[in-house]
Amino acid sequence: MKTTQAAFPTTRLRRPRRSPAIRALVAENTLTPADLIWPLFVRDGEGIEEPVPSMPGVIRRSVDKVVEAAQEAHALGIPAICLFPYTGNANRTSDCAEAWNPDNLSNRATRAVKAAVPDIAIMTDVALDPYSDTGHDGFVVDGKIINDETVDALVKQALSQADAGVDIIGPSDMMDGRIGAIRAALEAAGHHDVMLLSYAAKYASAFYGPFRDAVGASGALKGDKKTYQMNPANTDEALRCVARDLSEGADMVMVKPGMPYLDICRRVKDEFAAPTFAYQVSGEYAMIQAAAQQGWIDGDRAMMESLMAFKRAGCDGVLSYFAPLAARMMNGS
Ligand code: PBG
Repeated sequence: MKTTQAAFPTTRLRRPRRSPAIRALVAENTLTPADLIWPLFVRDGEGIEEPVPSMPGVIRRSVDKVVEAAQEAHALGIPAICLFPYTGNANRTSDCAEAWNPDNLSNRATRAVKAAVPDIAIMTDVALDPYSDTGHDGFVVDGKIINDETVDALVKQALSQADAGVDIIGPSDMMDGRIGAIRAALEAAGHHDVMLLSYAAKYASAFYGPFRDAVGASGALKGDKKTYQMNPANTDEALRCVARDLSEGADMVMVKPGMPYLDICRRVKDEFAAPTFAYQVSGEYAMIQAAAQQGWIDGDRAMMESLMAFKRAGCDGVLSYFAPLAARMMNGS
């Protein structure tokens, strides 16, 4: 695109910045609660709301409290929540069998939310890390993350989530071939309308640190995830991952982390024109909250600016721990 521009003073680019009304009129992007997916941490028990120290303002909730959060989200106009189980050590085994237990925490929360708030969309995470004694997203044999056996387990996990009633399954494991395998299994089981939001371009990132605290995985993880999550040096590879996942049956794709990877969001949106999401991950959230707590930045403004950046980069929506806070600001409440 070429824009030709008359010279000053015919053109004064400050004219459209003059007043709130004019600025609103010419705004290229908008942010609404409908752009948000709210990730929620689920724990066992009842009536429990337990703060996550490394994520100020974020709490782990028992299932009954997750239902209340889903009601809150729905009232705010947030269309979807994303469930992450906090499993602790008791359910972490080498066979990861809890991952496809129909009565595991994630599936119980799904059924409870579906019964109470049928109109909110529920997304869940497919990966073995909450259930594994190694903290890895796949099975580990002789120090290696084994791909194909892991995919078989992920398929079982995804089917149990679909049976529990989720709307959107989010494979975050980065194994090869999992989207195709999960899609085929969902079709065979009659789950024709369950969507796949693939964590297609997921980087091996230091910004996941607080999340691993939140789900109880930081102590468990041995080594790093660099043999399956992407190298932050790469961008062409992200396009290959997205192309592959779309061809295998992903309905939507995600870039993760978010703000340090806005260039990837833009390339993915331009190249594929598919529904594109970014995950503003735990470390991004924690940085803004920590600086705000210190009085070093205006937290509310930094939050809204960070979320708008995703829209500007071409994203259709954002997974963000700020979702309820941001939605309340957008709604003026
Ligand atoms: C695990 C998973 C992670 C996140 C979402 N799913 C962590 C990881 O890959 O180690 C990170 C989310 C966040 O940091 O907010 N499959």
